[in-house]
Amino acid sequence: MEQAEPQVPHVVFLPIPGLGHIKPMLKLAELLSRPSFQVTFINTQRIHDRLLSTDLLARYPEFQFLTIPDVVPRDRPRSGTMSPGDFLLAAGPVIKPALRQLFISLCKKKGRWQPATCIIEDGILSSSVIDVAEEFQVPVFAFRTSSACCIWTYFHVRKLVEEGDVPVVQDKDMDKPVTCIPGLENVVRRRDLPGIFRIERADDPGLEFFINDQTLVMPRAFAIIINTFDGLEATMISKLASVFTKMYTVGPLHGLSNARAKEETTSASSNSILWKEDRGCMFWLDSQPSRSVVFVSFGSFVGLTRDKMLEFGHGLVNSGYPFLWVIRPDSITGEVDPSLILGELKAMIEDNKGLMVSWAPQEEVLAHPAIGVFLTHSGWNSTLESVYAGVPMICWPAIGDQQINSRFVSDVWKIGLDMKDTCDRSTIEKMVRSLMEDKREEIMKSVNEIKKLAHETIKEGGSSFSNLEKLIDDIWSMSH
Ligand code: UDX
Repeated sequence: MEQAEPQVPHVVFLPIPGLGHIKPMLKLAELLSRPSFQVTFINTQRIHDRLLSTDLLARYPEFQFLTIPDVVPRDRPRSGTMSPGDFLLAAGPVIKPALRQLFISLCKKKGRWQPATCIIEDGILSSSVIDVAEEFQVPVFAFRTSSACCIWTYFHVRKLVEEGDVPVVQDKDMDKPVTCIPGLENVVRRRDLPGIFRIERADDPGLEFFINDQTLVMPRAFAIIINTFDGLEATMISKLASVFTKMYTVGPLHGLSNARAKEETTSASSNSILWKEDRGCMFWLDSQPSRSVVFVSFGSFVGLTRDKMLEFGHGLVNSGYPFLWVIRPDSITGEVDPSLILGELKAMIEDNKGLMVSWAPQEEVLAHPAIGVFLTHSGWNSTLESVYAGVPMICWPAIGDQQINSRFVSDVWKIGLDMKDTCDRSTIEKMVRSLMEDKREEIMKSVNEIKKLAHETIKEGGSSFSNLEKLIDDIWSMSH
């Protein structure tokens, strides 16, 4: 009798084209490929071309990389030029037909490839993806790459509008506490609400689309996956459990992925995904005193004007502490020549006190003993990486979930300071000194407690470890 071929699950991943989304999806894809799952990873054409120019595709020889067309025209400058709402408005009409086309072949057995078992999509693409996946009867996992506290606020947009908390208008009652979100009463002020609420009109089409089509539709997915962990966001996670039938909290994913790689004595995949890392900064860090360096990085998307860069530069220099600053070539906004600004900044730095690089191995930098403080835009990956490495943060949030993440860092977890909506040299100098000197002992108590929870959650018996196992089991059972 002929033996039936074992049906390994085939998982399709679809992130939106931003590093902060692609990176945690790749980490999850790596973790799912370990029990021999087949992985198809779909990127926009522009991202795919970038990956071809790094060695990333070669690092995943078992994965199938496919493409959908670009959503944003290629000649559009990157940093901060398109709101998430506008991006999503533009994305729907591109993604739906492209995904439908891909599903026609992904849902059939083809060579060694099994028919798609499920799709793990970026949760903010939910309406486009769920509609197509339902046509093909493929279960959907909505993966949100942001914090649980941020996702929870999105479910309350109607109440926020009724209460007059949204739109959040710069300089208008920005410090008024928000009282209409269960579990967040008096935790957040209007200025701490996610950046997408900083719009001119409550009926902004981008916001409407973001909330109605992409967030409120998410519970139609089979389950939600969040890159967070119970020890960090227990209250918010339990609130979200009332909205979703199934939820897997599997963060910090970079910690889980690094730990698994260590167990298997393989090396964790490098994080040079879209930009090449300048590893020379690690040697520079080796020459700096313990816990003395301020690491400055604003992620992969946020842009800064010349004025703001100079305020940061002066604040860092005036603090007297050495600093390592990531300045991406495309992060300087406005009509100025980036090389002139870099020249101005370099002229301020004495001796060996500061180093600027275009991209750093951030996870390794944060784990280096010379790092004392992280000056961050509070992107969710950066926040988790800092928590995991046990480094206190100074937060300068710009967009999206960053505004609420920074509030949690400063006022809920008490592991940093929030300089939201200010950018002046004296605040920067004071906050650096404060975290390096007078507040250090107190803040390190909470930093170390939360670091311990982050490391426990990814060990056998820990909640993220067990949730990943459950996710693997559930996907296995879908393929049989
Ligand atoms: C975006 C949003 O800002 C974030 O809030 C959202 O949750 C995800 O998408 P991004 O702005 O790029 O992402 O920030 P972040 O989430 O912090 O991700 C940046 C990633 O780039 C981090 O994993 C970080 O380690 C990496 N990085 C950054 C480097 O590897 N090297 C660098 O020099 C700078």
